[in-house]
Parts: sequence; structure tokens; C-alpha cells
Amino acid sequence: MSKQRNKQLVWDLPTGVFHWLLVLAFLGAWLSSDDDRYLYIHVFSGYTVLTLLVFRLLWGWIGTHYARFHTFAYDWPSVTAYLKGLLNGQAARYLGHNPAGSWAIFLMLLLILLVTSTGMLVFGGEEGHGPVARFVSSLVGDFAREAHEFLAWSMIVVVGMHLAGVLVESFLHRENLIGAMISGYKIGGDGGSDEGTVSQRSIVAVVILLALLVFAAYFFRGYVTSTKDDPFLPLHGPQLATDEVWRSECSDCHLAYHPSLLPARSWRRMLREQENHFDEDLGLDEETLSHLQAFMTANAADNGLTEPARKIFASIPATESPLRITATPYWKAKHDEIDDSVWKNPKVNGYGDCEACHRDAVAATFEDAAMHLP
Ligand code: HEC
Ligand code: HEC
Repeated sequence: MSKQRNKQLVWDLPTGVFHWLLVLAFLGAWLSSDDDRYLYIHVFSGYTVLTLLVFRLLWGWIGTHYARFHTFAYDWPSVTAYLKGLLNGQAARYLGHNPAGSWAIFLMLLLILLVTSTGMLVFGGEEGHGPVARFVSSLVGDFAREAHEFLAWSMIVVVGMHLAGVLVESFLHRENLIGAMISGYKIGGDGGSDEGTVSQRSIVAVVILLALLVFAAYFFRGYVTSTKDDPFLPLHGPQLATDEVWRSECSDCHLAYHPSLLPARSWRRMLREQENHFDEDLGLDEETLSHLQAFMTANAADNGLTEPARKIFASIPATESPLRITATPYWKAKHDEIDDSVWKNPKVNGYGDCEACHRDAVAATFEDAAMHLP
């Protein structure tokens, strides 16, 4: 008996677009996760992944046959039966997801939900940005970071299993499953148990792509209006308090280092020892001193006004009152991987020349996205 072999549409266009955009967005998030300077891209990728998830959940109910969850909601015995079949070299062929594959899919969807929600907690708690910033403390943010990283790695492991499964199945059934996920078509009509009819639904795919374009244009619009003198600094935090006396007294010889960069006890010591300020005599009178002390202790690192403030403060042993920001453990840890050649660059005037590498050094917010190496 000859089998009828005809091409059959399995993955509708929106499902394919979802799949490949998810691959790109997840890859983007992964590649931008290592370096704080790429945080803005990381966050964009994260929002994109989350939006894609929301679409996929919806499409699992209202999409075409093979995209609907109930067509691949297999119980565990089906998974073990399928895997046993694989080992015996006679795995059943499914047009849609096979039972083992379907579990990987549901697991990935769950992990995406967890990775993106913990990501928003980190973003809110640690960086003070995003939709939940007002509701989470920095402590929650620190915990969420651990969870976020663990979940992201779990996702990478499951993606690896998914890819291995795709390769094994492609090999066993001599069919190109990656190509099928691009074209949407598979050879049908050979008795797969799960056949159904599918239409392209191209309009939905176009809407997804348009929505992504609009979102990207909105998200990155700042770069269009950015100029050299007024660069776009994404994710800029709240403005820090400033003070005229402090600015004028402390900016003659170097950048006016903001009080939030050292603990109050360091500033008290510095003002007490002002006649011998790194071999300079600041020559401040009593009135100026008490004014400076009031402003500087009120805005010192102890108050945790910014992420750097919090982390600098936490890194200094309680018994020490360092006079150099550049001598604090946090500062050293953050800068020890910078190449020697950068420090020797004539545009960098020593460790204390924060402005050479941080566009927002004067504002003292030290945001990730404002970093640039000369
Ligand atoms: C007359 C010049 C002068 C003035 C005015 C001055 N400083 Fe300094 N400051 C220095 C010198 C010199 C150094 C050491 C620079 C170096 O070795 O890198 C320094 C270093 C510092 C450092 C350490 C930077 C680091 O390496 O982390 C801090 C903090 C600092 N000053 C704060 C202040 C404050 C606050 C004021 C205002 C009350 C002030 N300075 C005013 C000359 C000055
Ligand atoms: C030669 C360039 C350079 C100079 C000078 C420099 N920094 Fe940095 N700084 C960097 C780079 C690069 C990073 C990012 C390191 C990373 O993400 O691992 C960084 C990270 C930081 C961070 C952490 C930001 C965050 O949220 O992750 C803070 C805070 C910071 N710098 C403060 C300072 C201060 C204060 C000064 C001046 C006393 C200074 N830096 C001088 C290059 C520089």
C-alpha cells in the first residue's frame, strides 16, 4: 500500500514568528547580560520575551490546531512511552510536538515567566527602574538577582535539551525540523496520530512584527535626539541633592565628589583634617565647615540614595573611614578588570577622574548606561 505524502502546513505564521523572535530576543538578553553597560538592551530583550510569552499563551487557546495547548498536552506515561520508543529506534512520528518535546515547551514557557518576572524585580529593587520599582526594596532585588540568574541558566539547559531533541528526531525521521519551523510545512498524510488543518493567519504575524517595531522605536527613541554634548543616558535615576557651597569649594581641583560616594564618618574625618587634604590645605572657615558637614552627612552613602551609594557603604568595614572613594572595596572590585592601557590613556587623569569614563559623574548617579571607556 503506497503512502500518500503531501506537504501540510503545521506551524502557522504567528507561531513561527513567535518562535524565531523568541530565539532572537532570548539570545539578545543572554549576550547583553554580562556587562552593565548593555543593561538597556538587556531590558528591551526581556520586555520583548515577556510580551512574546503573553502572545503565545493567548495563541495556545485561539491559535490554529498545532499551536493550541490541548493538542499537545500529553501526560507523563505518553512521555515515557515515547522515550522508550526512541531507545528502541521506533519512535512514533508526530506532526505537531511529540510528548517529550511538549514537556520541554511547557517548561520553557514557565521558565520564561519566572525569568522575566524575577528580572523585573532585580530591575526595580537594584536599579530602581521599571514597573515594580516602587514596590520592591533593594534587598528583594538582591535575592531576585540570584533567582534570575539561576532561572536563566535553567532555561539555557532546557533550550539545550530542546535542541538535542530536535536534532535526534530530525535524524530518526529523516526530516529537517528546523526547516519546518521556518517554512511551517511538514510532510503529512503518513498516519501521524495528531492530524489537523491549519491556516496561515498572516495578519496576526504582521501585527506582531509591527508592534515590535513600534515598541523598539519608542524604547530607543532617545538615541535619535542624542547629541555629543547632550547624550542620551537611558535609565537615568533620580536627581541627587546638590549644594552651592559644596560645589564651589570642592570642584576647584577635581570633580566635586558627591557625598553619596562615601560614608558620613569619612566626610567628618575629611573635614576635620581639611588642613592636610592630600597635602593641600583647603583653608575652610568654621561657618563653611559646618555648612559642608551638614550637607555632606545628610547625603552620605549611609542613606543609600543610589545603587552605588548602597554598595560602596556595604563594602566598607564599620571600623574604617576611608578618605578615598577609589580605596573602597566596591570601587576596586568594579574597576579592577579595566585594562592598563585605559588608565594610561591621556584622556584619563588617574583613578579619581570619574568623568573620563562616566558621563553622569557630575550628577553622581553612576548609571550603568552612562559608562563609556575613552
Ligand atoms: C586645593 C585643591 C583641592 C580642593 C579645593 C579639594 N580637594 Fe579633594 N583632593 C585634592 C587632591 C590633590 C586629591 C588627591 C588626588 C589624587 O591623589 O588622586 C584629592 C582627593 C580627594 C578625594 C579622594 C578621591 C579618590 O581618589 O577617591 C576626595 C573624596 C576628595 N578629594 C574630596 C574633596 C572634597 C569633599 C572637597 C571639598 C570640601 C575637596 N576634595 C576639595 C585636592 C583638593
Ligand atoms: C578608566 C575609566 C573609569 C574611571 C576613571 C572610573 N570608572 Fe567607574 N567604572 C568604569 C567601568 C568600565 C565600570 C563598569 C565595570 C563593570 O560593569 O564591571 C565602572 C563602574 C563603576 C560603578 C558601578 C556602576 C554600577 O552600577 O555597576 C561605579 C559606582 C563607579 N564606576 C564609580 C566611579 C567613580 C566614583 C569614579 C571616580 C572616583 C570612577 N568610577 C572612575 C570605568 C571607570
